[in-house]
Amino acid sequence: MPLVGPNRAEYEAFQAFTLDTLGLSLGDNKAYLLHGRLQRRMGELGLNNYGQYYQRLSSDRSGAELQLFCNAITTTKTDFYREKEHFELLTNEIYPALKRKISQSSPGKLRLWSAGCSMGQEVYSMAFEAVDIFEQELEAGFDMKFLGTDINTEMLAVARSGIYNAEMLQTLSTAQQEKYFCKTERAEDSALQVNGRIADLVEFRRVNFMQTTYPIETTFQVIFCRNVFYYFDPGIRQIVLNRLAGYLDDGGWLVLSVTEIGYEIPDLVKVRGNIFRRQAIAA
Ligand SMILES: C[S@@+](CC[C@H](N)C(=O)[O-])C[C@H]1O[C@@H](n2cnc3c(N)ncnc32)[C@H](O)[C@@H]1O
Repeated sequence: MPLVGPNRAEYEAFQAFTLDTLGLSLGDNKAYLLHGRLQRRMGELGLNNYGQYYQRLSSDRSGAELQLFCNAITTTKTDFYREKEHFELLTNEIYPALKRKISQSSPGKLRLWSAGCSMGQEVYSMAFEAVDIFEQELEAGFDMKFLGTDINTEMLAVARSGIYNAEMLQTLSTAQQEKYFCKTERAEDSALQVNGRIADLVEFRRVNFMQTTYPIETTFQVIFCRNVFYYFDPGIRQIVLNRLAGYLDDGGWLVLSVTEIGYEIPDLVKVRGNIFRRQAIAA
């Protein structure tokens, strides 16, 4: 029997479940989206009814089905240097300011976070420019690390591998590909792997924004959290934004997507439509 979309009651159960587990608020007219994203998994399980799948998902104590559900339901589109003005901001303003700070004060460390990193292109794009700008400091052993986090473990596996096919690499120039990547034997010929110099600086972790505490023990000079909040419930989005602000160092930057305007974060100053800073405390 062919799989048909969820009926109203089934869809409402999934709406509530998705809100609860991921913070995502699926609109009343998005049943087709749920259907499009879950039908493969339901096919694998041999189920042809959303009520049965909901039963299985909500009664799974192992967390394995929940993870597969999160992997299927999340929107993961990303690119190297997506919204390139934010990388220009890093290169022209933020990194030079951080570099001056390092040379003026005791060694310290730099921590940068891509929250909702999908397949990792965002966090690697942050690191590419940094290895050039902080080349001397890194050679002298300066402690700089980038963190990429996401709920989607399939995307995190790609991010950790650092391997990207030709289509994913097309927003990079040949010079950038040669500088930051190397050939890989593990994938098709046209794929490239982020080179060791970059990969050594980057770590990935599974973090659900809905966790009340995140497994992160540091604060950051820069947090990118872009194109994450499209489907978030507004109240939950505000809680997550406030929580992210708590991970920002004095003077630190929080960068949201160019389309994410009109948000307010009480503890931070809005510098531009989608860019916030924690006020630096005067020494
Ligand atoms: C559209 S991608 C954006 C990727 C990248 N930041 C960019 O701008 O190109 C959104 C990411 O947010 C992640 N995401 C959605 N809900 C999440 C949640 N509750 N916790 C953690 N990550 C979540 C998705 O898995 C997805 O990889």
